[in-house]
Amino acid sequence: MNINPKAMLFEPGGPLRGTVTVPGDKSISHRSLMLSALAVGESRVSGLLEGEDVLATAAAMRALGAQIERGTDGVWHIHGVGVGSLIQPATALDMGNSGTSTRLLMGLLASHALTATFIGDASLSKRPMGRVTDPLGLMGASFTSAPGGRLPLTMRGIMPAVPIEYRLPVASAQVKSAVLLAGLNAPGITRVIEPIPTRDHSERMLRGFGAELTVEIEADGTRIISLHGEAELKPQVLTVPGDPSSAAFPVVAALITPGSDVTVTNVGMNPTRTGLFRMLQAMGADLTIINERDVGGEPVADLVVRHSTLTGIDVPPDVAPSMIDEFPAFFVAASFAKGRTTTSGLDELRVKESDRLTLMAHGLARIGARLTEQEDGLVIDGTDGEPLGGGNAAPTINAELDHRIAMSFAIAGQATKGGLIIDDMSPVATSFPGFVDLIAGLKSA
Ligand code: S3P
Repeated sequence: MNINPKAMLFEPGGPLRGTVTVPGDKSISHRSLMLSALAVGESRVSGLLEGEDVLATAAAMRALGAQIERGTDGVWHIHGVGVGSLIQPATALDMGNSGTSTRLLMGLLASHALTATFIGDASLSKRPMGRVTDPLGLMGASFTSAPGGRLPLTMRGIMPAVPIEYRLPVASAQVKSAVLLAGLNAPGITRVIEPIPTRDHSERMLRGFGAELTVEIEADGTRIISLHGEAELKPQVLTVPGDPSSAAFPVVAALITPGSDVTVTNVGMNPTRTGLFRMLQAMGADLTIINERDVGGEPVADLVVRHSTLTGIDVPPDVAPSMIDEFPAFFVAASFAKGRTTTSGLDELRVKESDRLTLMAHGLARIGARLTEQEDGLVIDGTDGEPLGGGNAAPTINAELDHRIAMSFAIAGQATKGGLIIDDMSPVATSFPGFVDLIAGLKSA
C-alpha cells in the first residue's frame, strides 16, 4: 500500500486544556525584514515567525544585499542597505507558497533599477499578480509573466519611479503595501486611497521606521494614505506579537470541543485583524480578552476561551477584511452552531493559497456539515453542538497546499466522529510551525 507520509489523522481526543503561545505574526514578520533591510544600520527583531513564508522573505532580502542572521537567543539581526540601494539578485527569487513575500517585494523592487525573477510553488503560481503589476506599471516598472499575469514573472524596476495616486480596486493590504513600498524610493508623494480598510501594519511600521506618512479618514471611512518618497529609514528594535490568524485555530478548536478551557497568550489585537474574535463573541462564544497592552506599536492581549454553544449569525461583508484569513476556521465554528450562519462578499477567498470557498465547502460536506456554496460566501446550517461525521471510514480531505485549509480541518477533526485524514500537513510549516504539537499538547494537558 502507498501511504503518504505527510497525511495525518485527526480525531476526537477529549477536552483541550492549557495555556499556549502561537508563533509571531506573519504580516508583521515579513514587513520587519523588508523595512529593516531598507534602514541604514542594524535592526533587531524578536518573536519573528520562523515559518517558510517569512524565511523566503529573509532569503530574498539577503539576495538583495541585506545581511540577516539569527542569534542563538532567537533574536534576528538585520543590517540594512538603505532605501534605493538594494542590489541585483544573482538568481531567481524563490517565493515558495508566499503571496505576501511576492507582492510586497515586487513593490520594493519596482522603484529600484534592477531586474528580478519571481518563482513559486504550484499554489502561488496560480495566483493573480495583475493587482500589483497594474499600479507598479503606472509607476514605471515593467513585467513579463506566465499567461494571466502569473508566476514565473520577471520585473524590471525603474529609478526614479513615478509617484502615483492609486485607488485600490480590491480590498487588499498586499496591494496597498506594494504601492507604498514602491513609493519609498520614488520622488514626491505616493498616495493610496483605500475605500475599505485593510490591515494597517505597513502604515504603522513605515512610520515607526521614520518614514513621513499620514492617514486621513473621510466621513465614509475611506482612508487616504500619503507617503513622502526618498525616505530615510532608521533601524529599529522590534518585537513581533503572536499571530491572531494562528490563534484562530486553538480558539475555534476549544469552542467546538466539549469541556475545553484554553488560554492563548500574546495575541496581536490590531482592530484590522480581530474580526473573527468579534464575530465569535456575537455568536455567544465564551471568549474573554484579558491583559490588553501595547507591544511595539501594536495592541496585544491574552485570550481565554471555553467550549461554547454558538448561535448562527449573518456576517456583515464589511467585516471580511478584518478576518480574511480566518474564514476557513470560522466556517468550522459555524458548522457546530445552532441555526444558520451566512457569509457574503468573500470573492477574495477564491484567490488565496487555494479557492477557500470551494475547498471548505467540499471538505465540510464530506464530514457531514450542511451548507451551500454561493458565488461570494457559504451559508452553513450548524449541528447545534453535535459532532460532525459518523461515516464508516475517516474521509481524506485534500488541502491543496493550503496551510489554513489543513489546520481548519485538523481542528474540525477534533469534533468529527471517527475523525478525518488531511492528505498533506506539510504546508502548515509556512505559517505555524509546531501546530500539530501545540494541539496535541492541549489534548494531553
Ligand atoms: C496580507 C494581506 C492579506 C492576507 C495575507 C497577508 C498582508 O492578503 O490574506 O495572508 O500581510 O498584507 P490580501 O492583501 O490579498 O487580502
